[in-house]
Amino acid sequence: MTSAKQRAAEAALAYLKPDTVLGVGTGSTVNFFIDALAAHRDRIPGAVSSSNASTERLKALGIPVLDLNDVGRISIYVDGADEADPGLHLIKGGGAALTREKIVAACADTFVCIADASKQVKALGRFPLPVEVIPMARRFVAAALRALGGDPRWREGVVTDNGNDILDVHGLAITDPVGLETQINQITGVVTVGLFAARRADVLLIGGEDEVLTLTA
Ligand code: A5P
Repeated sequence: MTSAKQRAAEAALAYLKPDTVLGVGTGSTVNFFIDALAAHRDRIPGAVSSSNASTERLKALGIPVLDLNDVGRISIYVDGADEADPGLHLIKGGGAALTREKIVAACADTFVCIADASKQVKALGRFPLPVEVIPMARRFVAAALRALGGDPRWREGVVTDNGNDILDVHGLAITDPVGLETQINQITGVVTVGLFAARRADVLLIGGEDEVLTLTA
């Protein structure tokens, strides 16, 4: 049976631009997209991946994985989200891949976000906001996040693909996603915050029971 995540993922295939490199995110929804992409691999030169996990899955299905530095711009970036607000601002990083995801999103002409309806929220912040930090700065950054009104908790045992730590910040009221993204990114020791607001999604595909809702920014 097709799940809502799979339905959203398969709908993203309509945004593929033949003969161009695409970007591929990380997570269970993206895994459905990678699986569906395999049948279209002859239409694209390859993909830039946002994580080691997605790289392995792409390669296993015969889809070439390219270095972003060799590619420059990419046509579309397809990725999931942990939360999406009506303005298509996102929280991401539940899978700890936020930094590479943000880099690939920044290089994409179009960011297509795929999710099921459980990810839609009126305002971001119910899902704890992931922040990737340089390990030696964890305590310092946590104090700065507390000063912003959040309750940061170390995701113990998780090391990102970049060798860093993750703090999950609970209890933040995110009324100004772009402003908070800027503010947290300014804290010394922060690598990236999982707010995708300055570069939000352009298209949000929400998988439902038997249809896909398309929202655009
Ligand atoms: C990975 O770090 C995240 O940003 C994922 O994109 C996000 O957690 C969505 O994951 P699922 O598709 O598994 O819900």
